Amino acid sequence: MKQFKQNNKASTVLILMLFLIMFLFALLISSVDARKNHNKKNKAFKHHKQRGQGSPAPAPAPAPAPAPFVGSDPTQLGIFNVFAFGAKGDGISDDSKALQAAFEAACKVGWATIEVPSQFKFLIQPITLEGPCKPHLVLKIDGTLLAPPKVGSWPKSSWFQWLNLKWIQNFTIQGSGAIDGQGYAWWNLSQVHHIQKKSKCIPDMKPTALRFYESYNVTVRDIRIINSPLCHLKFDNSGSIQVNNITITSPEDSPNTDGIHLQNTKDVEIQHSNIACGDDCVSIQTGCSNVHVHHINCGPGHGISLGSLGKDKTVACVKDIVVENVTMQNTLSGVRIKTWQGGVGTVRNVSFSNIQVTDVKVPIMIDQYYCDKRRCKNQTEAVAITGVKYNQIVGTFSVQPIHLACSNGVPCTNVDLIDIQLTPSRSSLGFQQALCWNTYGQSKAPLVPSSIDYCLRRGGGFHSELTKSMEYSC
Ligand SMILES: *[C@@H]1O[C@H](CO)[C@@H](O)[C@H](O)[C@H]1NC(C)=O
Ligand SMILES: *[C@@H]1O[C@H](CO)[C@@H](O)[C@H](O)[C@H]1NC(C)=O
Ligand SMILES: *[C@@H]1O[C@H](CO)[C@@H](O)[C@H](O)[C@H]1NC(C)=O
Ligand SMILES: *[C@@H]1O[C@H](CO)[C@@H](O)[C@H](O)[C@H]1NC(C)=O
Ligand SMILES: *[C@@H]1O[C@H](CO)[C@@H](O)[C@H](O)[C@H]1NC(C)=O
Ligand SMILES: *[C@@H]1O[C@H](CO)[C@@H](O)[C@H](O)[C@H]1NC(C)=O
Ligand SMILES: *[C@@H]1O[C@H](CO)[C@@H](O)[C@H](O)[C@H]1NC(C)=O
Repeated sequence: MKQFKQNNKASTVLILMLFLIMFLFALLISSVDARKNHNKKNKAFKHHKQRGQGSPAPAPAPAPAPAPFVGSDPTQLGIFNVFAFGAKGDGISDDSKALQAAFEAACKVGWATIEVPSQFKFLIQPITLEGPCKPHLVLKIDGTLLAPPKVGSWPKSSWFQWLNLKWIQNFTIQGSGAIDGQGYAWWNLSQVHHIQKKSKCIPDMKPTALRFYESYNVTVRDIRIINSPLCHLKFDNSGSIQVNNITITSPEDSPNTDGIHLQNTKDVEIQHSNIACGDDCVSIQTGCSNVHVHHINCGPGHGISLGSLGKDKTVACVKDIVVENVTMQNTLSGVRIKTWQGGVGTVRNVSFSNIQVTDVKVPIMIDQYYCDKRRCKNQTEAVAITGVKYNQIVGTFSVQPIHLACSNGVPCTNVDLIDIQLTPSRSSLGFQQALCWNTYGQSKAPLVPSSIDYCLRRGGGFHSELTKSMEYSC
């Protein structure tokens, strides 16, 4: 900005004049509006629309910012402050249209920042912010975005997610603020079921707070995402994702809230993030490959999971996953792969290393008999698991150090256990020995407890033809 002013005084004057004209124009429109329309609410909405749509036309000097508002310099180019688009920022008025309009205006020009100012709360209904946009957009969240607090006030078509970013490229969300899903009401199952019963066609689901769909080269950093009804951050069919230095928290008594959920997503890097919530800290689903998860602090909750995969005889393909440099405390499992019986496909080339566990029930787990009912039918087919390395898994457990329950029909192969040192925690009320069922691989000292050494079956163990036929489906 400064350089711009110094080098180019003439155009600065020009731009200032342009602002003046726009300001007068906006004043004119709003006074006409005021005369035409005595309904305050209606007036406010029209007002936003006109500014949101009218302002970006004289690009590349789009910042409309006609009104003096708190927390931003209206002469800054490329800044799309939601207040300039009619946001109230009181946490009660519906500011969805203002956010949408600011986004759309910025989207048209590119090289722009959509600003959600600090110290204000903006109530946002479920919305979709849709690309493609001109490149280099930043959504800077310094204040708080609030989801509708009551389940009943969510439009029923939007139970899949709250903030949906779709077809977005080269995009960053950053700032010192928060995305608050206000999920308390959703966690109360009886309330949700009550509403679901009333309208029969509602699926049994709860919204994810922030979802990216078919997006590429996206960074989410520094913000907090809290109290989501379900999952906090979800990427599907997306690629080249960076999640850095974000904090995800939900109160401990909230069930079923995933931290991060990845679906058909490639090249994901999640780092320096502090995640604590009721369900999986990170959940990697079918279709994911080349995912790197590191420097995560997780717990309480369910730990880091691949799966569950292969539900209802579906094909599941997951490969090239690295999870490293993670600390966990008080979680149900540590690093876990879970598959349903009857699925097909393959999990291959997965590495879990440098995982520090404290008071984790079962730090190392493969469960190929995953079942969310009391009983599931035994089936011969299974998602094949091959090439899983556990290296440096150290700390305390309360129930069982290792539980590798591979399928009867399709054994797990090339499962390596290296430097595993797990001792019972003080809170342990008696514990079980290491279990490996139909699991082939190698182990390398140090191994504590020593029963881990005898746990794996040696050698290949494959029915290589069987394994091959499984791989074709991926
Ligand atoms: C994203 O950024 C890259 C590198 O700056 C650029 O080549 C590409 O065209 C951009 N894509 C979009 C859709 O803006
Ligand atoms: C990704 O987006 C950032 C800015 O948002 C840009 O600087 C970078 O060049 C993009 N990279 C690719 C590979 O498109
Ligand atoms: C959960 O919802 C039920 C039914 O609406 C209500 O009676 C109960 O007080 C709620 N509990 C909490 C903790 O909000
Ligand atoms: C991480 O995010 C916090 C909160 O926004 C910020 O204060 C801090 O500077 C960030 N740290 C890094 C290393 O970017
Ligand atoms: C296994 O995955 C890692 C990480 O994604 C990758 O670098 C490596 O090349 C893969 N190995 C094989 C044999 O595919
Ligand atoms: C994880 O920690 C190991 C050992 O300290 C280190 O060599 C490796 O570079 C770390 N990985 C990342 C991605 O920071
Ligand atoms: C499935 O197989 C296991 C192990 O062979 C057995 O214990 C269990 O009873 C079987 N379950 C059903 C529902 O048949």
